Amino acid sequence: GDNVLYLAHRHDIEMEGACEASLACTTCHVYVESDHVDILPEADDKENDLLDMAPFLRENSRLGCQII
Ligand code: FES
Repeated sequence: GDNVLYLAHRHDIEMEGACEASLACTTCHVYVESDHVDILPEADDKENDLLDMAPFLRENSRLGCQII
């Protein structure tokens, strides 16, 4: 799918994604610009559970591979 992780890779932007978008890591952790947070669908429970384990968690943290 066209999640942020894959889009980044397609445009030669380096971004970690150790588990290839299978929601088993936090290496694709990103911060979403504040004006974009509201227009994205909210993170589901599984993503939030993983985010809780991400270092340097912020209000606008998301897992990049889950942003579509
Ligand atoms: Fe592992 Fe996103 S690449 S959760």
